[in-house]
Amino acid sequence: MTSTSTDINQTNSSNSTPLLSVRNLKVHFPIKRGFLVQREVARVRAVDGVSFDIYPGETLGLVGESGSGKTTAAKAVIQLNNPGSGSVKFEGQELVGLSTSAMRPIRRKMGMVFQDPYGSLNPRMRAGDIVGEPLKVHGLAESRDGYRQQVASLLTTVGLSPAMAERYPNEFSGGQRQRLGIARAIAAKPSLLILDESVSALDVSIQAQILNLLQDLQDEYNLAYLFIAHDLSVVRHISHRVAVMYLGKIVETADAKDLYERPLHPYTQALLSAIPTPDPIHERSRERIILRGDLPSPLSPPPGCGFSTRCPIATEACSAAVPELKTLAENQQAACFLAQGR
Ligand SMILES: Nc1ncnc2c1ncn2[C@@H]1O[C@H](COP(=O)(O)OP(=O)(O)O)[C@@H](O)[C@H]1O
Ligand SMILES: [Mg+2]
Repeated sequence: MTSTSTDINQTNSSNSTPLLSVRNLKVHFPIKRGFLVQREVARVRAVDGVSFDIYPGETLGLVGESGSGKTTAAKAVIQLNNPGSGSVKFEGQELVGLSTSAMRPIRRKMGMVFQDPYGSLNPRMRAGDIVGEPLKVHGLAESRDGYRQQVASLLTTVGLSPAMAERYPNEFSGGQRQRLGIARAIAAKPSLLILDESVSALDVSIQAQILNLLQDLQDEYNLAYLFIAHDLSVVRHISHRVAVMYLGKIVETADAKDLYERPLHPYTQALLSAIPTPDPIHERSRERIILRGDLPSPLSPPPGCGFSTRCPIATEACSAAVPELKTLAENQQAACFLAQGR
C-alpha cells in the first residue's frame, strides 16, 4: 500500500471520520475450465486495488467507461455477489468477511439505485408496495396506517403523488420510475446511497430534475452518495469529489472543481476533451483527444500502466511498471509517471 492511500478525500471533512472507507479493494473473477476437475485458467481483474473515502453528506462521483469495474466495485462495497478482498469499513465497522445475517442490519443503511428504471422494479407490484417493502423487511412499520402514511410521505418526498401508490411500474414514465427507485432506496433511512448509472438512461432534462431531487435529499438528510456514471459531464455538478476508474483501478481523484479545471491524468484529459462546451468560441477551439483502440480486457491487462496502450504520451517506461496514485496537487492524486503537479 502506498502512502497516498491514507490521504485520499480529506476535503470538507478534516474534522469528521469517513462514513465509508475502502482500501485496496480487489474483485477478481476466476475463469475455470476442466471436465472432472475445474481448474482456474485465468482471472478477470474487474476491480484491482481501489481505495476511496466518502464522508457523511458528501458525493463521490465514480466515473469510467463501460467495463472499467464501477458496478463490480459498488456491489463489493455492499458485499453483494463477489465481495472481494481488501477492506470496506462502514461507520468504522469492517464489512469484508461478515456473514449475510451480520450484513442485514448494515445493508439497511446503504441504499442502492440501479440504472434501469424498467428492469429494477418488480412489474407485478404496486408502487406503494415497491416503496414500502424495505419498511416491512426491516420491521420499520408499526401499524397498517403507519405504513400507509410512511409510503405516502416517501412518495411526496420524491415528488410523486400519494395517489400513485396504487399504480404499477409500467404506468410511470422513466423519470417517475427513477423517483420510485429513490423513494424505495431511502425508505429505511440510509446514510449512504449508491447510485449506479441511475440517471444515465434518462433524457437530459429529466436527468437534471433527478439530480436536483438528489441534491435536495442530500441537503435534508445529510445523505452521502457514491454516484456512478460513465460520463464525466453527468457527475460534474453533483459531486464534491470525483474518482476516475480505468481497467479496475482509480487513475485520478480530486475535488470536482479541480478535476474539471485541471485534469492531471491523460485519461481524464481525454474524457474531458470529449465533452462539448456551451461557449461557441471555446467550442470551436476545443481540442479533442481521440483515444486509440478499445478498453483492454481485464482478463489480460497490458503490462505496466493499464492505460499505456491508448495513452497519447506513453513512453517505454510506462509498460515496465505500474504507476501508483501519487499526490500531485492539494487533494489531487493521479497514477501516471508523466503527470506533472502544479
Ligand atoms: N460475474 C462476472 N464474471 C466474470 N467477469 C465479470 C463478472 N462481472 C463483471 N465482469 C467483468 O468485469 C469487468 C468490469 O465490469 P463492470 O463492473 O460491470 O464494469 P462497469 O460497471 O464499469 O461497466 C468487465 O470486463 C466485465 O465483463
Ligand atoms: Mg456498470
